[in-house]
Amino acid sequence: MKAKKLIGALFISGAVFGTFAAEGISAEDWALYQEGINPGEVFAEEVGGALFEKPMGPEGKSCASCHTKNGEVEERVATAAAYYPKYDPSCGKVISLEQRIQLCQKKYQGVKPFSLKSKENTALTTYLFYLAAGTPINVDISSPVAKEYYEYGRYVFTLKRGKRHLSCQVCHEFAVGKLLRMQWLKPLGKDPVMGAEGSRAADHWPAFRMTKNKVQTLQQRFIGCQKQAGQKPLPLGSKEMVALELYVKSLSNGVELKTPGLRR
Ligand code: HEC
Ligand code: HEC
Repeated sequence: MKAKKLIGALFISGAVFGTFAAEGISAEDWALYQEGINPGEVFAEEVGGALFEKPMGPEGKSCASCHTKNGEVEERVATAAAYYPKYDPSCGKVISLEQRIQLCQKKYQGVKPFSLKSKENTALTTYLFYLAAGTPINVDISSPVAKEYYEYGRYVFTLKRGKRHLSCQVCHEFAVGKLLRMQWLKPLGKDPVMGAEGSRAADHWPAFRMTKNKVQTLQQRFIGCQKQAGQKPLPLGSKEMVALELYVKSLSNGVELKTPGLRR
C-alpha cells in the first residue's frame, strides 16, 4: 500500500473514534482505524485490484491484460475516475464509471457484467478511484450531450419528490448551515452557498462508511439521502442518477480526488 495514500485517513480524531466505538463497528475495522488505515483503501486494493488482475471470460482476459503497460495501469484508465460520467459514443449516452466497467466486461471480456449493486462492481470502481487519487476532477459539461445531462441533473436536484415533498436542493442549498439529526446541512460542491462551506462531495466518494461498514459509491450515497427524505430511490445507472452524478461532480471540477474517502 502506498504510504502517501494513508495520510488522508489520519485526520480522523479521537473524538470521532469515540463516537463510532458505540455504533457496532467490527473489531477488525476498529483496529484498522486506530492504526490510521482506511478500510476503503484495503477494499480497493485487495478486492478491486485482485478483480482487475483476474482473467475472465472465454478467452481468459483480465482488465490488466488490456490496460497495463510495463506493470503500470495506462494513464487514461488510471485517471478515468476524474472524467466520468462521460459521453460514450458506442452507447450514445453519458455513462458512469460503473457502467464503463460493465461495458468492458461485456464487450471485451465476454462475460455477464457484475450488477451495479454488486460488491464486485463497487470494488473495481473503488480501485479505479484509488488509482486516480490526486487527479483533479474534470467532468465535461460543455459538449452538447454532456450539457443536456448537466441540465437534467440540475433539474433532478431541484425536483421535489416523495411524501415529504423534499428535493436535494431543499437540504443542500436552501437549508445549508442548519443542523439535521446532529449533522450540518452543507452544499455539495467546492463553492460556498449562502456563507456555508461546500463539502466537495465528489472528491471523496466512493468512501468507506463507518455506519454501514462498507464502501459506497456516490450514487449509492444519493440513495441514502433519497431514502432518508422519504423518496423512492432512483435506480443506479438510470439517466436520472447519471445526470445527478454529473451535476454534483461538476460542482467540484478542479478539486483533486481524495478517494476512497472515509465517512460516518
Ligand atoms: C480485450 C481488451 C479489454 C479488456 C479485457 C478490458 N478493456 Fe477496458 N477498454 C478497452 C478498450 C479498447 C477501451 C477503449 C475503447 C472503447 O471505448 O470501447 C477501453 C476503455 C476502458 C475505460 C475507459 C477509458 C476512457 O478513456 O474513457 C475504462 C475505465 C476501462 N476500459 C476499464 C476496464 C476494466 C475495469 C476492465 C475489466 C473489468 C476492462 N477495462 C477490460 C479494452 C479492454
Ligand atoms: C432531508 C435533508 C436532505 C435531503 C432532502 C437530501 N440530503 Fe443529502 N445529506 C443530508 C445530510 C444531513 C447529509 C450528511 C451531511 C454530512 O455528511 O456531513 C447529507 C449528505 C449528502 C452527501 C454526502 C456529502 C459529502 O460531502 O460526503 C451527498 C453526496 C448528498 N447528501 C447528496 C444528496 C442528493 C443528491 C440529494 C437528492 C437526491 C440529497 N442529498 C437529499 C440531508 C439531505
